[in-house]
Amino acid sequence: MRTDTGEIIHLEDYQPTDFVLERVDLTFELDPLETKVEARLIFHRREGVAADRPLVLDGDELKMTGLLLDQEPIAAEDYTETGETLTIRGLPDSAPFEITVTTELSPQTNTKLMGLYRTNDVYCTQCEAEGFRRITFFPDRPDVLAVYTVNIIADKATVPLLLSNGNFLGGAGMGDGRHFAAWFDPHPKPSYLFALVAGDLGVVEDSFTTLSGREVVLKIYVEHGKEPRAAYAMDALKRSMRWDEEVFGREYDLDIFMIVAVSDFNMGAMENKGLNVFNDKYVLADPETATDQDYANIEAIIAHEYFHNWTGNRITCRDWFQLCLKEGLTVYRDHQFSADQRSRAVKRIAEVRHLKAEQFPEDGGPLAHPVRPTRYREINNFYTTTVYEKGSEVTGMIATLLGPDLFKAGMDLYFDRHDGQAVTIEDFIRCFEEASGRDLTQFSLWYHQAGTPLVSASGTYDASRQTFTLQLEQTVPPTPGQSTKQPVHIPLRFALISEDGTITEASSVSGAEVTGDVLHLVERSQSVTFEGIASRPVVSLNRGFSAPINLHFEKSSADRAQIARFETDLFARWQALNDMALDALVAATASVRAGTPVVCDQALIDALMATVSDDALEPAFRAQALALPSESDIAREIGRDNDPDAIFAARREIMTAIATAGRETFAGLFETMRSTEAFSPDAASAGRRALRNSALAYLVLAENAPTRAVEAFSAADNMTDLSQALTILVHRFPDTPEATAALESFQTRFADNALVLDKWFTVQATIPGAATLERVETLMAHPLFNGLNPNRVRALVGTFAFSNPTGFNRADGKGYRFLARQILDIDPRNPQLAARILTSMRSWRSLESGRAEHARAALSEIAAGAKLSPDVSDIVERTLK
Ligand code: ARG
Ligand code: ZN
Repeated sequence: MRTDTGEIIHLEDYQPTDFVLERVDLTFELDPLETKVEARLIFHRREGVAADRPLVLDGDELKMTGLLLDQEPIAAEDYTETGETLTIRGLPDSAPFEITVTTELSPQTNTKLMGLYRTNDVYCTQCEAEGFRRITFFPDRPDVLAVYTVNIIADKATVPLLLSNGNFLGGAGMGDGRHFAAWFDPHPKPSYLFALVAGDLGVVEDSFTTLSGREVVLKIYVEHGKEPRAAYAMDALKRSMRWDEEVFGREYDLDIFMIVAVSDFNMGAMENKGLNVFNDKYVLADPETATDQDYANIEAIIAHEYFHNWTGNRITCRDWFQLCLKEGLTVYRDHQFSADQRSRAVKRIAEVRHLKAEQFPEDGGPLAHPVRPTRYREINNFYTTTVYEKGSEVTGMIATLLGPDLFKAGMDLYFDRHDGQAVTIEDFIRCFEEASGRDLTQFSLWYHQAGTPLVSASGTYDASRQTFTLQLEQTVPPTPGQSTKQPVHIPLRFALISEDGTITEASSVSGAEVTGDVLHLVERSQSVTFEGIASRPVVSLNRGFSAPINLHFEKSSADRAQIARFETDLFARWQALNDMALDALVAATASVRAGTPVVCDQALIDALMATVSDDALEPAFRAQALALPSESDIAREIGRDNDPDAIFAARREIMTAIATAGRETFAGLFETMRSTEAFSPDAASAGRRALRNSALAYLVLAENAPTRAVEAFSAADNMTDLSQALTILVHRFPDTPEATAALESFQTRFADNALVLDKWFTVQATIPGAATLERVETLMAHPLFNGLNPNRVRALVGTFAFSNPTGFNRADGKGYRFLARQILDIDPRNPQLAARILTSMRSWRSLESGRAEHARAALSEIAAGAKLSPDVSDIVERTLK
């Protein structure tokens, strides 16, 4: 059995293996409770390794039933097996040898969803990061690359489909009601990319011809009857394959590419070589059941997993500390893809919103860690937004620093030099240094220092000298284990906007390197002077969010409005509006807490209304302008002593003020943005729906009556409109007969579609207010809820904890106690899921003292739990520290 020793793994302890693995031959005899796995592993001792060094293999909860060396049993005194490791002594000095390990598994009872498990009677695997050791004893680490042959044997009638990585070798019936299939993957790979899927599934087939003329068969496997809902995923896959050829020069490298959608999955998806396994939520879509957000997610995740074929699979990580090498880079690639397929500015706004909502709180709280960490207790806890999203931002900054041509040269060098290898972040950075001739030593601190840098800026205009001086200071806040920080290299894209709205170019700049519109902030403090500036400019700083920083730059609302109106960078226009709104919301929260009336800045209302009424702007952008900073955005801006109820009340008041002022405009948009054509998930149509639905939300506030939401709910002919109308109705008027009726009709209509029902759970879990806790508890007993399925648990418990600030943070602490009970309940069966949901407590220290005390007590209750998994104990201990 696995025992958590609480052992910490350190980057500096990295050593290559003593033995080189050449080939892997696996045979699976599938059975729900007694699957037999035979692994034949060909090794040789690495040159220079002493002859008395034993071979040590990893295992996790394994039952070993046989062990051979070159087909001969190994004497008992020559090996030691602990369930966690298998140590074999007395192995040949230099000649290759074969170890045959036989293990017996019970996929049906594997509730951790790591290793080989069953989901709706389908056998499937998840091996990243350390799941392969739950299948057989193995050197389960990413720097061990080998060629695999896989034989699968199963009952032919109930398990007609037998899949693994690579190309299909052949298969046949076996005469005893069973059949077999053999697969061979010619590309050396680490064990975390191994996959096996077997069962009875439907398929959608297509094909793709690569740039060099290779014919690739494409197959997406889904549950029978769901095939039509895989069409969009297939389309996204083909677009991804073409894009990677055109933009990164990367072609696919096997005869077949398969995707399997499964309904029990701990994460989004997995990039196993040639056989991606997906959470079905990120494959299945049709207008009736999927929202525009679902379509966008499917497109992004299909692309992400496909792009891993080069960034992750062909070139993989030397060790798990290098996770961002594949994840940060691949997120960067999928962001670029989506930006090219949709509107670049709108995509960027959504990315930054997500980064600030998810990564900034992580970086500013007890779970903060560098993009490239140097220590971990449980690697599963490092699949974080810091590694993924901040990792992507850091890659994007390299592109900004180098410019597109040198960035491309660096990427080409990386692909060229490291294809087939397991490498490090240092190897990656070196490619860009060599391609550009630029020293990236200081820049590399982005990988090593945790915490979101804070840049404070102020400007002074000297009319007589016609100069403008920008004073910049940077600090990187202390984070767990890192009390002092060095200044980092921050590429700040900027523009100086003159009084008439034009963008001014300085005749010369001193005090900082400036390349194009990029200003390089490298010191703790830098004073930058622009010459030849004819009138006082307004500075638009960090255009396009060129660096993932917190920026403190006090400006009048008139100056912010100037940016919102005249910036040519659309992202910066949105940022200015969002900053104005944030200022207003923070001030309103202070008013609520002081018991004084909330007044909404008229300049904010004017700027917002000018933006949403501007038909030259794409509707999706206008919808983003109307989406005010969230309650958590406001809490983060305030930073300490937070009262979620006050924040909610303040936000509601500001929204109502905007709604009242813009009522006519919103009514107009609600009509003009109505679609007259058949549903299409394309970005432009989605943008119109987004704008129409935000207009609806404001209208309902202005009218203070459910009528219009009820009408929109009845009239909706697609899931975006339907779920938006339901959310507006239920969140604004919970417990009214109208809300109850709509929830009931939704449930009846989609009772047989678990993914849609997740939306029903989520809408209710996120109803603002203290009463929602009881509702969530009642829903947990609902016949359609299933505590074993990660999507259901996330939809109800996860969204309650992560996305319901007033409900979860009830002043009496009952929300936290509920979470503690859930964590202790989920942990024994699915530690990864429990640990992930527990990270919802990461900002507890920024709450006002009463709530913070309740939160601490709930965390302590979890910490005191008997037999916690390493996953949960790691998170709870770091969160409490
Ligand atoms: N590599 C997968 C992806 O990002 C995610 C795997 C997550 N694994 C885990 N143990 N949390 O595409
Ligand atoms: Zn990934």
